[in-house]
Amino acid sequence: MSANSNTFDSVKAVILSAHKSTTSEEKVSFYNRWAETYDRDVAVLDYCAPSLAANSISSHFNAVREATVVLDVACGTGLVAKQMKKLGFGHFVGVDGSEAMLDKARETGLYQDLKQCLLGEEPLPVQWGN
Ligand SMILES: C[S@@+](CC[C@H](N)C(=O)[O-])C[C@H]1O[C@@H](n2cnc3c(N)ncnc32)[C@H](O)[C@@H]1O
Repeated sequence: MSANSNTFDSVKAVILSAHKSTTSEEKVSFYNRWAETYDRDVAVLDYCAPSLAANSISSHFNAVREATVVLDVACGTGLVAKQMKKLGFGHFVGVDGSEAMLDKARETGLYQDLKQCLLGEEPLPVQWGN
């Protein structure tokens, strides 16, 4: 899958097609198919959710950023970690159901660990505390 011509309308069609996926497995296979062109496609939409999320966390965060490990749930290709890195965060663990999205996140070199997990079906693969 890809929004071949990479126009606003073609990307919108890709996103609308996601609504055909009903189960978690179907949603994750949709993202497996979209992973290759995801970053390029969302750029066409001026997708600003990753920077909004990073700025929002940053503005409420008072601890030492360099010493903090950020758990990026549904990390996708790593767009949120890229924004948080610019704001001084440096350690990230990513979780996503899509292996193809995790491969893209791995290529960023930002994550110290990446875990595959189908949320809603499996427990979050992280240890709490410490
Ligand atoms: C819209 S993307 C957002 C990715 C990234 N946070 C961003 O802002 O670009 C949604 C992500 O959630 C993942 N996802 C959707 N449903 C999931 C589920 N049930 N379990 C694990 N991951 C899931 C998809 O694989 C995809 O990477």
